[in-house]
Amino acid sequence: MKESELRTLLSDLSLEEKIGQLIQLPGYFQNAGNITGPAGDMGFTQEDLRLAGSYLSIIGAEKLKKMQTEFMAQHPHHIPLLFMADIINGYRTVFPIPLAQACTFDPELVEDSAAVAAREAAASGIHVTFSPMADLVRDARWGRVMESAGEDPFLSGHMAAAMVRGYQGSDLREPGRIAACLKHFAGYGAPEGGRDYNTVELSERTLREDYLPAYAAAVNAGCELVMTSFNTLNRIPSAANTWLLREILRREMGFEGMIISDWNALEELLAHGIAADPSEAAFLALRAGVDMDMVSPIYACNLKALVENGKVPMKWIDESVWRILSLKNRLGLFEHPFKDADETAEKTVLLSDENRLRARKCAEQSFVLLRNEDALLPLSGTDAVFIGPYAESPLLNGVWSIFADDSDTVSLGSALRRCPQTREVPIARGCTMCDPEQPPIGFQHPLPLETLDAETALEEAVRLAKNAEKVVLCLGEHRECSGEAASRGDLSLPRCQLRLLDAVAAVNSNLIVVLFTGRPLDLRPLAEKAKSILLCWLPGTEGGEAVLNTLLGANNPSGKLSMSFPYCTGQVPVHYNHLNTGRPWKGGIREGRFGSKYQDIPNAPLYPFGYGLSYTTFTCSPVTLSAAHLTRSSTIRAAVTLTNTGTRTGTETVQLYIRDLSGSVARPVRELKGFTRVSLAPGESQEVAFTITEEMLRFYRLSMEYASECGDFDVFIGCDSRTDNGARFTLTE
Ligand code: GLC
Repeated sequence: MKESELRTLLSDLSLEEKIGQLIQLPGYFQNAGNITGPAGDMGFTQEDLRLAGSYLSIIGAEKLKKMQTEFMAQHPHHIPLLFMADIINGYRTVFPIPLAQACTFDPELVEDSAAVAAREAAASGIHVTFSPMADLVRDARWGRVMESAGEDPFLSGHMAAAMVRGYQGSDLREPGRIAACLKHFAGYGAPEGGRDYNTVELSERTLREDYLPAYAAAVNAGCELVMTSFNTLNRIPSAANTWLLREILRREMGFEGMIISDWNALEELLAHGIAADPSEAAFLALRAGVDMDMVSPIYACNLKALVENGKVPMKWIDESVWRILSLKNRLGLFEHPFKDADETAEKTVLLSDENRLRARKCAEQSFVLLRNEDALLPLSGTDAVFIGPYAESPLLNGVWSIFADDSDTVSLGSALRRCPQTREVPIARGCTMCDPEQPPIGFQHPLPLETLDAETALEEAVRLAKNAEKVVLCLGEHRECSGEAASRGDLSLPRCQLRLLDAVAAVNSNLIVVLFTGRPLDLRPLAEKAKSILLCWLPGTEGGEAVLNTLLGANNPSGKLSMSFPYCTGQVPVHYNHLNTGRPWKGGIREGRFGSKYQDIPNAPLYPFGYGLSYTTFTCSPVTLSAAHLTRSSTIRAAVTLTNTGTRTGTETVQLYIRDLSGSVARPVRELKGFTRVSLAPGESQEVAFTITEEMLRFYRLSMEYASECGDFDVFIGCDSRTDNGARFTLTE
């Protein structure tokens, strides 16, 4: 529709129709949706259903085409609905969780994964996905770290922007494209105590320096929507935070798209205690700039009266309706209200062999090899037995894979059985996935209780391990133990799994642990008892195949940690880009007292950001700089020579870190400023160069001006965030 026609449509709408556009209804109102938040009597009327602007979490080409047809026929101006859903890491073909995808350090791969997800979801009638989640995270107690891209602003920004490009392409009208909704704005990943929905307190400098850049990268990539977060940010809930939405997001970041609240977040303004009644909640949210109310009755039940009594100017209503109509128009819904919904396409696109192959490749590239003593990996195929609750479990999708079917997943057991090399290898479950006395609370539906004779299972596992050359122990956290509302106070593996680990380690020292998890865990027991640890996260539909290909060496792991694995729960939050403090501690735990240290644990995480091994080995030459001085108009070329010093072709991610040695405020001990993946054959070398610019050195100065300051800087180039392979340069006027 031409803009002039859209303007005319807006002016023709009644107040009731305009308010209707600002309402998103839950899919289960149509008895067909997935519930992804608290259910309950939402207080909507039949009129709300007649005039709504959007539904969420309903899928299916036939269902949505029928619904769209019936809805538009009865709507006074025949305005099409927007269908939105959580396509977080794939639709029916499930990809690794975003935290794992970030470990690929490969934005192009992540973009491609998002494009597959978009094509599948679009065929099923979806117009908008509630992704990318760009919340910076440093606390693994928070279950939603699994949806993030980890602890680094630079990497998170690249991943968020890649997902936006993958979903949206260059034109939303293109077949197979859906609109991206950036979330959760802002600072949701920093809740006190790692407890979901809890208070967030961030100085403006920390907010701007660490938490906003990834959101800004998604906005700059053109995301069409932004979702407000549940949390208070410095005591103001985001859905009512005018400074955050109108000043930061719209004026500073230049976001002109649609802002939608999170699930029922407008009604939660009452619980937050900043709205005395629903009418005030509606006023605060609209004034702040929330265009669409996700499944709360606040806008539906209060905006009409607020406009009629003059408290809410029609201008606010019209601005929000305009943004929603404009999005529908950019999607081409006025001309093609079904967009790409196509029952025939669903049969060929969803779970196609091509999509499965892409999911498998993405999974293989997301795995992180944490240990591999005595080169226990890769396997020959017949030299190992497989034990553990994940050895045959199909539960390899992240918890937000709410439209997928576990029967489509290739478990490790299935992959073993269909591979000639491993068809006969023995498999034993060993124990349940969860401690029987602490089963996870289901995300969407009650979980089937695990049944197993624990003693018999353990005995069988020990008997199998005793005579084996090697043992592959498949352990991990149940997928329902991460994700939304899945905060944990203890990052240990379940006791039943630790018991199995001890029992197997007691009879066989050639232990390989394959670890499945949605978050960093306390891996000390594994590091003590296993010679090899392969971190596979929650790898998705082709997970089992990807794991087996990696265990057998067809895939050489190349993933690098997107989030630090803490020494233990007590060390959290932990992240590599911390400040130095006035008493930095380099010594051991017992070597002194008066430093910034613990008396009982080290300061360093067990495995740091950017870390990951390979079946081959690499070395980096010393850093060379093209100049010792940098000005605002010059650049410096920083380079190393990477060499594959091992016996297999492999891929290394070379990382560039910079440290500002002195500033008008304290600066992190290092910050990631570049990365590049390099594949080399055994013995091969390649120069890896980065261009350093003055813009890279800018930060929020004491004055809060975003600028660089002259002085000395250290450059580090290496294979993880601990590298001390460095050189120094000076920024001068
Ligand atoms: C949930 C989540 C959000 C999701 C939305 C719709 O509560 O916080 O990430 O997109 O509701 O399901």
